[in-house]
Amino acid sequence: MARDGAAYICQSCGAVHPKWAGQCPACNAWNSLVEERTSAPPGALAPSKATKTRGLTFETLEAQDAAMPRILTGVAEFDRVCGGGVARGSAILLAGDPGVGKSTLLLQVCASAAAGGARCAYISGEEAIDQIRGRAGRMGLSDAPVKLASETALRDIVDGLKREAFDLVVIDSIQTIWSDMHEAGPGSVTQVRAAAGELVRLAKKRGVAVILVGHVTKDGAIAGPRVVEHMVDAVLSFEGERGYPFRILRAAKNRFGATDEIGVFEMGDAGLREVLNPSALFLNEGGQRAAGAAVFAGIEGSRPVLVEFQALVAPSAYGTPRRAVVGWDSGRLAMVLAVLEARCGLGFGQRDVYLNVAGGLRITEPAADLAAAAALASSALDTPLPQDCVVFGEVSLSGDVRPVSRMEGRLKEAAKLGFGRAFGPSAAAENATIPVTGVRRLTEAVERIAAANWT
Ligand code: TYD
Ligand code: MG
Repeated sequence: MARDGAAYICQSCGAVHPKWAGQCPACNAWNSLVEERTSAPPGALAPSKATKTRGLTFETLEAQDAAMPRILTGVAEFDRVCGGGVARGSAILLAGDPGVGKSTLLLQVCASAAAGGARCAYISGEEAIDQIRGRAGRMGLSDAPVKLASETALRDIVDGLKREAFDLVVIDSIQTIWSDMHEAGPGSVTQVRAAAGELVRLAKKRGVAVILVGHVTKDGAIAGPRVVEHMVDAVLSFEGERGYPFRILRAAKNRFGATDEIGVFEMGDAGLREVLNPSALFLNEGGQRAAGAAVFAGIEGSRPVLVEFQALVAPSAYGTPRRAVVGWDSGRLAMVLAVLEARCGLGFGQRDVYLNVAGGLRITEPAADLAAAAALASSALDTPLPQDCVVFGEVSLSGDVRPVSRMEGRLKEAAKLGFGRAFGPSAAAENATIPVTGVRRLTEAVERIAAANWT
């Protein structure tokens, strides 16, 4: 049994258990239970014992002012992912791996918003003032009227924010903030929850937009920002593949906008640069398209994005052939391989299969099925697709090629980037901007690739 006031808290899901266990009964994570004191230590401020209540005040659904007040930060990619600017009084969690560029992005957002007249504060618990100044200098942001602070004590932060009015406050990171109301160490679930709870309350009460930075670690040593996800209005994740300069900002949850929107940035010497035309970035420039490459005409959020799928099918040197995939779902790859085997007679049994989405983008749309299948078939048959061809379409288990959403938009983007034809569901051929080679079944697609027949 835990000592008085102590409990075992799962560092992964935040569930509280009275007893230690090797596996969390709530989320099944292993070795995630850590003993934490949940009650206030003696001597800490006692919570107010007020017993008087004010009752509930009911309001109408109709809003006083029509539009939700937003702060336009001026970093267009960031504003769009937030749903058209940062909503006042909202709390946002920006999650990402350490080193992906969260601090860089938020310093740029703060500087840009401050230059536009918003009152911005950047509070860092990780870096000293001089470090932040140095970075701002390198990024050419030294003149921006952002108020900086280096602080980890929650009480001081909340106090400071109550004393001065701000529009936008960044807390970098939530894992470094600690409250003296709790004995648990900084970064523990209890501390992260307490700090986030207090800051979210402050955001609502004072109409300040608060952005919390949360590190995600794979080993779970630091409390994942999971517990914070439920408390905030929006969860943005900042992603990037190692070795690529591209960074993708994605909304995983957003009470004030769509969640499928992405923002694309490129990390350079002077910070992050917004990429307004991502298609040009994800496409392999020039040269003949190799066998195994297929350009997918995708939609990310509200924007069409063209990316190259690259497949390599090679004889396997081992008993169990390898299946490796980067940028796409491995389950989806297994499905497409199975359909190619069962419906189209392409065998992958004794062959290694590698599938890669160029540029470090992660594709989740089912519309990419046909592009992946075309890349795989093209590699297996050693026949390249036409250089100027884009591919899209959903593949069903029965081997049908199904129409997908916004086909006209996909074709328009392809035409804009100089592609002259498309390969997709036959329904796409109606009012198309470029000629479409339509297929109803995946077997037809494979036959066309084998025979290089595109008319
Ligand atoms: P940072 O914003 O500190 O990451 P996080 O806050 O997510 O931990 O960014 C760290 C990386 O970004 C670091 O490896 C250096 C790189 N970087 C650049 O390449 N160019 C720049 O202008 C800056 C500021 C950082
Ligand atoms: Mg940082």
